[in-house]
Amino acid sequence: MLQRLTAQFKTLFNTQPDVSAFAPGRINLIGEHTDYNGGYVFPAAIELGTYGLVSKRDDQHIRMYSNNFEQQGVLEMELDALDYDAQHDWGNYPKGMVYYLKQQFPELDHGFDMLIEGNIPNGASLSSSASIELLTGWLMKSLFELDIDRLSLIKMGQRVENQYIGVNTGIMDQFIIGMGKQDHAILLDTASLNYHYVPTEFGDYVISIMNTNKRRSLTESKYNERRAQCEVALEDLQQQLNIQSLGELSVALFEQNEQLIQSEVNQRRARHAVSENERTKRAYEALKAHDFDTFGELLNASHQSLKEDYEVTGIELDTLAETAQQVPGVLGARMTGAGFAGCAIALVHKDHTAQLEKEVTEAYQNKIGYSPSFYHVTISDGVKSLDIEQ
Ligand code: GLA
Repeated sequence: MLQRLTAQFKTLFNTQPDVSAFAPGRINLIGEHTDYNGGYVFPAAIELGTYGLVSKRDDQHIRMYSNNFEQQGVLEMELDALDYDAQHDWGNYPKGMVYYLKQQFPELDHGFDMLIEGNIPNGASLSSSASIELLTGWLMKSLFELDIDRLSLIKMGQRVENQYIGVNTGIMDQFIIGMGKQDHAILLDTASLNYHYVPTEFGDYVISIMNTNKRRSLTESKYNERRAQCEVALEDLQQQLNIQSLGELSVALFEQNEQLIQSEVNQRRARHAVSENERTKRAYEALKAHDFDTFGELLNASHQSLKEDYEVTGIELDTLAETAQQVPGVLGARMTGAGFAGCAIALVHKDHTAQLEKEVTEAYQNKIGYSPSFYHVTISDGVKSLDIEQ
């Protein structure tokens, strides 16, 4: 891969790349839509991700090319004109990172040429955009020798989403892509940013990723709407309770006070955030204890809550997860990521993966009319430098 990209870089830009890096994508085991509610998340980085090569220029010009968006051609811009530009499409993610890095680091004073290629399926809820953000941050850190640590790059990636792109995401995706570790998930407390690495040892079971292959639409506005509903629910609860986030509530305390939330819809949104947070803590204990049955039950309960209380699943994700839940050898299944489209995951016995794919494909084709895709991936490291092979 890297050898091919190096050769392409030379043809495309007529120069050698100086540095190269890889940033993974991610799955989230459990803890969905909790990261902007001060709750726990439990994601893991995956070997699918984004590769990038870059070389410094003598002038202020920037050129970027992605093999995933060939129709966009080479994007060209100047270092002092990095405002968001809808026409730059995918290029706004790297641009946003450079925009904020440049504000902080005067030594980022030259343009550059950049080539990237990702093998994360687009729009699959496996965080291809956070992968590009962290990749760009890491490439710039290496190229300009910037004194910036992983956590600062993570926060900057979230800022790109929130302020530059305009999607009010939490910090989960950038955090796991920045901090991921091979064969480990991270239990992250998004209120304090305290975290633990947890070995992803599932015994005879493996995680299967199932892609709806549905094109995402309006995901960003629905995402922002869910976040706003949680904020209103919190304000209603704060009339009586001294809390800073929904993540501080146990299910029991929530149930005693949920009538404070004015709208029935917002009650359900908050109920999901609170119950999902408890499930995530229990899933962490279950995985540590190698209690895979309990872990699987929690995955199923998470999906149901995301379907009924949070309403972010839809018929495609429901068909994948609910069919998978019935397949022999499957302990649990749920959607992963923001929802609406994208992927679900299943915890399946390693001898039953073929059966899972067969049964889910049949049911999905019958109901939805086209096929899902399946991936078996290993859990990998966070963003890292690669050696350029000439
Ligand atoms: C997206 C966001 C994350 C998180 C998930 C839902 O992936 O980027 O911050 O909110 O959705 O859990």
